[in-house]
Amino acid sequence: MKKILILFALTAVLMPLHAQKITRADKERAEGLVRQMTLEEKVNFIAGAVDGFHTYAIDRLGIPSVRMCDGPQGVRNNTKSTLFPCGVAAAASWNRDAVRAMGRGIAMDAKARGVGIMLGPGVNIYRSAVNGRNFEYFGEDPYLASETASQYIQGMQGEGVMATIKHFALNNSEYGRHWTSSVVDERTMNEIYFPTFRKAVEEARVGAVMTSYNMVNGMHAPENPWLIRETLRGRWGFEGLVMSDWTSTYSTLGCIKGGLDLEMPRNYVYRYDIIKEMIDNGVIAESEIDEKVQHILQAFIAFGFLDRPLQDTTVPEDNEASRQAAYELSLEAPVLLKNNGALPLPAGRKNRVLLIGPMADVMPCGGGSGEVHPFENRSITMRQGFQALGKNRPFDCVTEGYDTPTAISLMDNAYAVVVAVGYGKKTEKENSDRTFTLPEGQDELIELALKHNSRVVVVVVSGGEVDMSRWHDRVSAILYAWYDGQDLGTAVAKILSGEVNPSGRLPMTFWGTQEKNPAFNYYQPTMTALKNTTSERHKERFSRYEYAEYREGIFLGYRGIDHFGVKPLYAFGHGLSYTRFDHNGLTAKPEGEGVKVEVIVRNIGEVAGSDVVQVYVSPINPEVIRPVRELKGYQKIDLEKGIAKTARILLPKSAFMYYDVESHEWKHQHGRYKVQIGASADKILCETEVIL
Ligand code: BGC
Repeated sequence: MKKILILFALTAVLMPLHAQKITRADKERAEGLVRQMTLEEKVNFIAGAVDGFHTYAIDRLGIPSVRMCDGPQGVRNNTKSTLFPCGVAAAASWNRDAVRAMGRGIAMDAKARGVGIMLGPGVNIYRSAVNGRNFEYFGEDPYLASETASQYIQGMQGEGVMATIKHFALNNSEYGRHWTSSVVDERTMNEIYFPTFRKAVEEARVGAVMTSYNMVNGMHAPENPWLIRETLRGRWGFEGLVMSDWTSTYSTLGCIKGGLDLEMPRNYVYRYDIIKEMIDNGVIAESEIDEKVQHILQAFIAFGFLDRPLQDTTVPEDNEASRQAAYELSLEAPVLLKNNGALPLPAGRKNRVLLIGPMADVMPCGGGSGEVHPFENRSITMRQGFQALGKNRPFDCVTEGYDTPTAISLMDNAYAVVVAVGYGKKTEKENSDRTFTLPEGQDELIELALKHNSRVVVVVVSGGEVDMSRWHDRVSAILYAWYDGQDLGTAVAKILSGEVNPSGRLPMTFWGTQEKNPAFNYYQPTMTALKNTTSERHKERFSRYEYAEYREGIFLGYRGIDHFGVKPLYAFGHGLSYTRFDHNGLTAKPEGEGVKVEVIVRNIGEVAGSDVVQVYVSPINPEVIRPVRELKGYQKIDLEKGIAKTARILLPKSAFMYYDVESHEWKHQHGRYKVQIGASADKILCETEVIL
């Protein structure tokens, strides 16, 4: 980590940093420009231009065309660039510094290519394992997701590149994303689905927000004034620009009134002829268009887009600082789920390993707009990672013909078989959900390995839980590697060999079966909307709309464990290490408006390792129904063998609050709370009480 901090510090000295806070002066300058623009220029300016990944330039006023690129794990769109660990891997690292470095690294890659706006991070909450885009997002918990997003955005925007938080809101499924209405109650939205967006606005001052494809409580997101005007701008104070997701706009008037500033990728509804007619006929006022131009311009001005070239030619496209950030994060993200002692694999010529499976020699990435193409010579597959371990780590690698005599004999004779399974851009991707079971033939491969070897280690590449029921109990170890970026192979090899001690923790709960997930019965859209309408036109237009009712409410993920009395296979926060940690001396004392938590963590095992101190708050006698406990703080701590350190975590007053639907505000209940340290959400190691 030190190395990247030095690299970034150097670039920070060389590059002026641009403020992201929109100042009074920025607003006034934008107002001045708006006054000079013709109506036609204004209308052109509020929709995407060129190739659908640029804004419209107005040269005579010095307003450039700003390039934007996907996506959350590196710079996509007609370029090769550093492939960072995917979103869920970033969250699984529970490491704020490493995530912030990722944001910076992506920003540098963006600047090197003249990209002013990055279309990430994606922060929709994990509701089901099968959502095709889980890999891009930050897991099931609003606190972990919001901390991760905030660090990512601050890292990115600190380099002068605007981040876009997406998809606002409730785009938790890829199935039917264009014609599903997410139906969610107010408390659930505010406690589970909004906090990440809110922190991005209030703390990280994100420059742009992208609306979602789905409708929110019956209204398309970019046309939804409650969402954009009342919540995002009114309650959270957002002053940047709101853009639509690509082709998700349905009506000119709806988008104008709803609060959408920038229609992407082009002007389907924000068209000059339509808007001019509306103004001429008094349907809308020109000032309503001015407002949108103003939002976009004031954000551009705050980021310096009008005052400097967007391309920074001093930053190489293939940048060492970015690579280093991707690499360091990749070591922190994999989660060791299970280990009966087979790991770490021993070195030595006698201990020849067989690496086998569809993920063994590929550079996997989830598909769709989140897919990034790394430079070939920079991406390390698992086979290459094993090779780099050196001669004392002999291994064979088989990537097809698993049941041939050669492969079987290698399985029979290996010290251990590492089966690398998972999805990829064709099987886990945007615009469709994936299967819960692994792609065809992969369960069978693990079962075959189990027949021929007593030490089977499974490495899973995915954006979330997969069905492990056929082999979970019989394999010796399981490592979840996610889409760990271009250094996936190095990270996996180093962890399996013990060179690196795994320190990732699950950012979601693994239920074991899909049915145990509290959201299971409500995940798929259930009812055809407006089915009782009498209008033929409405019937035709809306008969495709369905409701996805979030009836599990606030009891999503681990919040549902006690509430519904279901026992998961592995709860949120779970993750093994090659060492052991002891936690003692926990104290929680009111400090200022919040509570200061301290706990001593000691590495009592044989090797160095990193612990994630997870702080949960559990209200005693709550006045309304609440989850038994919720994550409200965490800290990752590196500990040499035998060493103890004190973790200090300040819980703000908001950590004890719930959303009150009567007052439409967050409410604090005076009373007693347990403060708990958990190895995961269902395994509490020690606890104390505090009155607040
Ligand atoms: C995705 C967005 C993405 C956009 C541009 C859409 O299909 O939902 O996340 O930023 O395309 O590629």
